Amino acid sequence: MLKFTMCVARCVLAMMALHVGAVYSWDIAISVKDQLIFYTNGTRTGSINLISRNPTSLVYDEVHNMMLYVDKQNNNDSVCGYDLSSKHNKCFIKRYGHNIHGLAFDPVTERIFFTDTNESSINWFSLKPGYNNSDYGNLLIKIDSNETTPTDIAVDSCGGYVYWTHNISNIDRARLNGSERRLIFANSFKQFSIVMDPQTQNLYYFDICGSCSDGPARGYLNKKIINTTGEIVLLSNFFGSEWRSRVLTVSKDYLYWKNSTGSYDAIWRLSKNAAPYVEPTEINKIYDDKILGITAKYKIKDQVQGVEDCDSLSSLVPTLDEFPDYTSEQCNVSACDYYCVYGNCSINDEGLPKCSCNAGYSGQRCEVNVCHNYCLNDGVCSLNEEDEPVCQCAGNHEGPRCEADISDTTTNAPANTNLTNMLLPWRKSGSKIV
Ligand SMILES: *[C@@H]1O[C@H](CO)[C@@H](O)[C@H](O)[C@H]1NC(C)=O
Ligand SMILES: *[C@@H]1O[C@H](CO)[C@@H](O)[C@H](O)[C@H]1NC(C)=O
Ligand SMILES: *[C@@H]1O[C@H](CO)[C@@H](O)[C@H](O)[C@H]1NC(C)=O
Ligand SMILES: *[C@@H]1O[C@H](CO)[C@@H](O)[C@H](O)[C@H]1NC(C)=O
Ligand SMILES: *[C@@H]1O[C@H](CO)[C@@H](O)[C@H](O)[C@H]1NC(C)=O
Ligand SMILES: *[C@@H]1O[C@H](CO)[C@@H](O)[C@H](O)[C@H]1NC(C)=O
Ligand SMILES: *[C@@H]1O[C@H](CO)[C@@H](O)[C@H](O)[C@H]1NC(C)=O
Ligand SMILES: *[C@@H]1O[C@H](CO)[C@@H](O)[C@H](O)[C@H]1NC(C)=O
Ligand SMILES: *[C@@H]1O[C@H](CO)[C@@H](O)[C@H](O)[C@H]1NC(C)=O
Ligand SMILES: *[C@@H]1O[C@H](CO)[C@@H](O)[C@H](O)[C@H]1NC(C)=O
Ligand SMILES: *[C@@H]1O[C@H](CO)[C@@H](O)[C@H](O)[C@H]1NC(C)=O
Ligand SMILES: *[C@@H]1O[C@H](CO)[C@@H](O)[C@H](O)[C@H]1NC(C)=O
Repeated sequence: MLKFTMCVARCVLAMMALHVGAVYSWDIAISVKDQLIFYTNGTRTGSINLISRNPTSLVYDEVHNMMLYVDKQNNNDSVCGYDLSSKHNKCFIKRYGHNIHGLAFDPVTERIFFTDTNESSINWFSLKPGYNNSDYGNLLIKIDSNETTPTDIAVDSCGGYVYWTHNISNIDRARLNGSERRLIFANSFKQFSIVMDPQTQNLYYFDICGSCSDGPARGYLNKKIINTTGEIVLLSNFFGSEWRSRVLTVSKDYLYWKNSTGSYDAIWRLSKNAAPYVEPTEINKIYDDKILGITAKYKIKDQVQGVEDCDSLSSLVPTLDEFPDYTSEQCNVSACDYYCVYGNCSINDEGLPKCSCNAGYSGQRCEVNVCHNYCLNDGVCSLNEEDEPVCQCAGNHEGPRCEADISDTTTNAPANTNLTNMLLPWRKSGSKIV
């Protein structure tokens, strides 16, 4: 509490100090293991400490003035957002043990799209206020198990498409509701990252030829003009470098990406309208951290500048608030800010957040609805007086989780109903159910 009060006081002081030039209009930001770092015109201007660890797939959402990212803490991937206006962090969905690889935001529908490489799926959830999302997000497209795995993802808010790469060979697209899926480009390369630029209607992506028949491994940065066949290679091994990056973003004027050498990670920049094989510029070196994500403040009004056929995005421009620019003097985020999803938060002796869950929820962040997937065979779940899940079975089923057929009552439950083998999503540490 004391920390919080001091923080408020410091924020007020920071606000009062605005006139002394502590405010920056950031143009790019990166994420490293526990921080967001902001740059203005190539100069580092400030940073924010996150409670999350290993934030990847950084994306700026101008509609909510929020930095979206995937929290890779302990391989328990969640999609989270740091609100630059309220300075609060919030996690929206969580997938235990899964790899959430790519993230993209559509300002028109206010939906976040993401890929899950474990499930081989494209998924979404909504940031619209009051939208009732499940903790897991919603499936958009399940990729067949005989196909390659989806990796990065990009949204075309003008055309209303989602584009995604595969770990080998394909770029596919579909409507934002999952319909009209089709392959738009294929080569035999391994694809790393993809971004969509509404202003030029180009896709930009990195891929590599790992075991090429005609020479050494090569990495490429490519441009693809939508609705044309083929691609344009912007960079290859041309400058003695094997360009490859999972970390790529596009702004009003430039592409920015990360490239690692043995001793440091660097931010590189290239004009997005550059001709093939123009040498890019190294703008920053980071020695003590790995760059995990990068995003540009590419304002929607710039995205649609000179674009005629993009009413969906253009119509947003007048409704967007001009958010105050980023302040270099940051308050420390309280570890409890938005940490617990359905529960109260307190700080333990080690200074770490701890949740006490509302009835019906469990999990480290009280994000697991104890009824989720609890009752089988269409049974209806509710909570008893001890707040434990109980099932009302449908049709011919019975048993604590409606796992048995009524006709089976004279025999033992079949082998596949061994309850200890079943997924009990709510049975997590902190749950009082034993
Ligand atoms: C950014 O840097 C360039 C060259 O260093 C300079 O010409 C330009 O004025 C700077 N822009 C701003 C907004 O500071
Ligand atoms: C993921 O979270 C669950 C529940 O909080 C925890 O039991 C598990 O250990 C975590 N996984 C890892 C790899 O830390
Ligand atoms: C997801 O994939 C990772 C890496 O391949 C693997 O370690 C993990 O066990 C998988 N998780 C699930 C739930 O299958
Ligand atoms: C959200 O959805 C869940 C199940 O889909 C439902 O049980 C719950 O009542 C809904 N919450 C609200 C606030 O509508
Ligand atoms: C995958 O299997 C489905 C049938 O299950 C088939 O229609 C499809 O063509 C297959 N795709 C590939 C890439 O082999
Ligand atoms: C792509 O993913 C599939 C399924 O996870 C895996 O079997 C395959 O080896 C991967 N291919 C490459 C080139 O990484
Ligand atoms: C999906 O979206 C497309 C284009 O927006 C629309 O034409 C189509 O009817 C939609 N399909 C469904 C099932 O909603
Ligand atoms: C691409 O083609 C679609 C339909 O084929 C059309 O609606 C769209 O306007 C085209 N986009 C551009 C940039 O030409
Ligand atoms: C880019 O990254 C590759 C792979 O890590 C490295 O071999 C190469 O030296 C880097 N290039 C530059 C110019 O830093
Ligand atoms: C924020 O907290 C971290 C860790 O507690 C501390 O190292 C850092 O100095 C604090 N920053 C400010 C501006 O108070
Ligand atoms: C959370 O805090 C509120 C307000 O202090 C209290 O009414 C409620 O009982 C608490 N819930 C839990 C689960 O501790
Ligand atoms: C249920 O599965 C657990 C874990 O695999 C095993 O230890 C137990 O013996 C099984 N119980 C029955 C009744 O088969």
